[in-house]
Amino acid sequence: MYDIHPVPDDWARRAWVDEERYNELYTQSVENPDAFWGEIGQRLDWTTPYTRVKNTSFAPGAVSIKWYEDGALNVSANCVDRHLATRGEQVAIIFEPDDPNGTVRRITYRQLHEEVCRFANVLKAQGVGKGDRVTIYMPMIPEAAYAMLACTRIGAVHSVVFGGFSPDSIAGRITDCTSQFVITADEGVRGGRKIPLKANIDAALAKCEGVKSVLVVRHTGGDVAMQDGRDVWYAEAAAKVGTDCAPEPMNAEDPLFILYTSGSTGTPKGVLHTTGGYLVYASYTHQMSFDYQDGDIYWCTADVGWVTGHSYVVYGPLANGATTLMFEGVPTYPTVSRCWEVVDKHGVNTFYTAPTAIRALMAAGEEPVKRTSRKSLRLLATVGEPINPEAWEWYYRVVGDSRCPVIDTWWQTETGGHMITPLPGATALKPGSACRPFFGVKPEIVDAEGAVLEGECSGNLVIADSWPGQMRTVYGDHQRFMDTYFSAYKGKYFSGDGCRRDADGYYWITGRVDDVLNVSGHRLGTAEVESALVSHAKVAEAAVVGYPHAMKGQGIYAYVTLMSGEEGSDELRKELVQWVRREIGPIAQPDMIHFAPGLPKTRSGKIMRRILRKIAEDDFGNLGDISTLADPGVVSDLVDNRQNRA
Ligand code: WTA
Repeated sequence: MYDIHPVPDDWARRAWVDEERYNELYTQSVENPDAFWGEIGQRLDWTTPYTRVKNTSFAPGAVSIKWYEDGALNVSANCVDRHLATRGEQVAIIFEPDDPNGTVRRITYRQLHEEVCRFANVLKAQGVGKGDRVTIYMPMIPEAAYAMLACTRIGAVHSVVFGGFSPDSIAGRITDCTSQFVITADEGVRGGRKIPLKANIDAALAKCEGVKSVLVVRHTGGDVAMQDGRDVWYAEAAAKVGTDCAPEPMNAEDPLFILYTSGSTGTPKGVLHTTGGYLVYASYTHQMSFDYQDGDIYWCTADVGWVTGHSYVVYGPLANGATTLMFEGVPTYPTVSRCWEVVDKHGVNTFYTAPTAIRALMAAGEEPVKRTSRKSLRLLATVGEPINPEAWEWYYRVVGDSRCPVIDTWWQTETGGHMITPLPGATALKPGSACRPFFGVKPEIVDAEGAVLEGECSGNLVIADSWPGQMRTVYGDHQRFMDTYFSAYKGKYFSGDGCRRDADGYYWITGRVDDVLNVSGHRLGTAEVESALVSHAKVAEAAVVGYPHAMKGQGIYAYVTLMSGEEGSDELRKELVQWVRREIGPIAQPDMIHFAPGLPKTRSGKIMRRILRKIAEDDFGNLGDISTLADPGVVSDLVDNRQNRA
């Protein structure tokens, strides 16, 4: 239906790899991972060189993942110090504020070095030591990157919590990793609206114990409460320390960061990444997928609260000595031209965003794009959810003027970096396909029983062997790590995604096959939204499913059974939406609430989500076998009262 876009000649010539080289290197990488990754690992500076490269096992009950295990290095030294000799005066971070008339900041590598060292000394003065967990709850400002890098400099383990999460969500994440230190700002600003970050931290700390110190960066200057003995203004603490701070040599397998992400059951999991393999993988993928070249101005719109912000705003680009743009705002503020104005203002060459943003901008038409120049753009990329071919073509044709490759990168918080992605000099592009595996990645498609399917096929996507950026464990719960990712298909990493492979060996991700929602590229567990709903006094039971949403990719459809005596009303709908926003955060708010006197359950009491999904999709003509239900009568009632009517 859509054209294949062959690799343009100039791209094949100038890129790091062309098609022939990709095939050659890919074969080497999967046939001899030790040799391949041994060589790629040399891209970093090691204080103790490694002699072992890969030591990994996906064996049932004994999953263990180690890369470069006898090497030592420091992440901040690799992202900052080692660039000083060659590019000290080059801009490392461009900060574009929410307000287009606000002050742009350009931080050189030399300044970044000073800021990171100073921040690290402040952390030390607060009592933070190697291995301590530090929770970071920050807006998209350079100080967020300083804080992350400062943690890595002294060997502390950061846990960044997205600024859109509620006090309850923060408290859960602080408690899970027993973090005693918090870094935040007075307020954030997005799309002209203030976000009370410090007040959210105060509310979170009222619900959890053990936090000894809160460092507060002044950003908006808004009024905040400071608690004596606990809260410290960053600037005051910074005035008392120097800017000498030697980087702590870390073992390659020492923890680098924890990032909480949603799964199909229970509370969010603390995905643990370690030092050496992660940085090798983040920097190598950043260079190859985007064909990063010296001097490129690179912009990834992700927030540092998500993995994309970790790997492709901070660690990958800075390890490569790039200029990375941090944008505080949103793509539609003050107008839908904002992204392209920022591209023109800063001469951005590479632009990386989520399909949901592209769809939103596409809905506003071509004119807001076409009134900008965008001539600096060389490459466009996407991440976070499947991109529909219409949006892909619009991005390619309207934003990129049909001259920039569109790189659709499939990966996950768990994978640390890109797993399936085209390479701009090597891969003919098919709109809607993430194309081919990255070096060292062995994707397989399996059926429900685990049989490996060959050739053209559809099924579940698994990865047959380890890669350096892979998560090492669920923080504090290795059993949960093994159960979640390695039990469905023994000896293989299960991604949770469905996938099709076409006759050319291209991969097409079809979306999650488990109970994980992907709303505007943000990952949410249905169980989390359900537990927020049932914590409301009027709610007896709740079941949440996703349904196709034109803008968000997926919308949230909640079936809610009220306590006896309670009546469903529009007012209660609004109240429940507010409730979920407060419990989890605005990204989790249900789009539709369906008051259901009963839910379809099997005789053993299991909710039949398959039926709920069909009704939410307004596709109830084909509900399948409902004879096993305890009370088949509830189904017709649900259909009659469905909220999503075409
Ligand atoms: C989805 C984000 C299709 C997928 C980096 C995956 C994608 C989940 C793509 C991980 C893509 C991410 N095409 N689907 N290019 N990229 N996904 O952990 O369902 O926030 O499992 O990591 O997003 O989301 P996460």
